[in-house]
Amino acid sequence: MLNFEFHNPTRIVFGPGKVAELARLVPPKAKVLLLYGGASAKKTGTLAEVRTALGAREVHEFGGIEPNPTYETLMRAVEQVRLQKIDFLLAVGGGSVIDGTKFVAAAACFDGEPWDILLQRGANVSRALPFGAVLTLPATGSEMNSGSVVTRKATQTKLAFLSEQVFPQFSVLDPTKTYTLPPQQIANGIADAFVHTMEQYLTYPVQALAQDRFAEGLLQTLIEIAPRALAEPDDYDTRANLMWTATLALNGLIGAGVPQDWATHMIGHELTALYGIDHARTLCIVLPSLLDTQRATKRAKLLQYAERVWHITGGNEDERINAAISKTRAFFESLGISTRLSGYGLGQEAVEAVVAQLETHGMTQLGEHRDISLAVSRAILQAAL
Ligand code: NZQ
Ligand code: ZN
Repeated sequence: MLNFEFHNPTRIVFGPGKVAELARLVPPKAKVLLLYGGASAKKTGTLAEVRTALGAREVHEFGGIEPNPTYETLMRAVEQVRLQKIDFLLAVGGGSVIDGTKFVAAAACFDGEPWDILLQRGANVSRALPFGAVLTLPATGSEMNSGSVVTRKATQTKLAFLSEQVFPQFSVLDPTKTYTLPPQQIANGIADAFVHTMEQYLTYPVQALAQDRFAEGLLQTLIEIAPRALAEPDDYDTRANLMWTATLALNGLIGAGVPQDWATHMIGHELTALYGIDHARTLCIVLPSLLDTQRATKRAKLLQYAERVWHITGGNEDERINAAISKTRAFFESLGISTRLSGYGLGQEAVEAVVAQLETHGMTQLGEHRDISLAVSRAILQAAL
């Protein structure tokens, strides 16, 4: 029986040239801190465009937020916010910069040790600074959700937190900003959005007819646009569809009232924390073997996925499921992403190391049925060798 609450207060401003709208979106008297990553925001001219749009407002900068943003770096931004009495944050970048900004927004208003925000998964966040985002990389959905993932470098711990306090006030989505992305980042974005959809769709049926059809539409859109998104960087329509699809994949809509898995993400986060593998690539390693390992409890949805997304109708049920999992793996490989641990130079030692980390982080009952124990995670990783 569907039974849920849905709340998403982020305003989306979508289209070419929309960075100029910051003039209207950011409060006129705000003391703004612009947060960005490495070189890209400067090199592409986006940062200058943002500054122009902000006009006469007092604007400060914090650069150097790394992919998989670290607590260590973000705490320096928190210090700057306090010192300069900043009252509005503006993230310019991909998921890492937006996630980092969410943490800074919450940590700047937090009494006590801000790492506790991650340890308590955001349950202890009662206030945060307001912030907006200018998205330059379609992938995570962070521009329209209340999640953030932060890594503590010192302990190789990558944890997520959720809080309604850290929904962006607005996000500017200009697809032309993605033209400068290297192909590996576009591949990552497609794969991440695909797996976000799967985490909320490929569980068990609960009569969520619209959520299912919507999820299938997002998956099919990603499959359809992937080749062109990689081959033609400045095809506006393709990049616009990728950008909006990635946002819709994780803004709460397809997840409303349905069971959710997220084991692929939890296992993947450990692979990133230990070996620095890009987030999306870790998902492509884990998902195909997770679907295979969990095929009994996911059976009905795997059959639905095979038929509706991949149009597989021939053969018996097990053959159809096998074909759907093979198609999924082949799709990731078609993006240039290796779906095996061996593709990243990792072997059995990595399986044990990841399982040990999962245990340390209490990730011992993952999945929509909480039945992915450490032993099951080990089997999933072994199948991904
Ligand atoms: O650092 P710069 O120089 O800016 O370069 C970035 C970075 O190296 C570059 N880039 C971004 N926009 C560009 C560009 N290069 C050229 N042109 C542009 N327009 O891309 C590189 C990767 O950026 P990053 O922000 O790290 O990528 P992504 O958006 O994939 O974010 C990944 C992070 O998001 C987390 C992941 O765990 C990871 O830490 N996630 C956040 C989620 C959420 N908040 O809901 C959900 C996801 O599952 C995910 O876990
Ligand atoms: Zn993800």
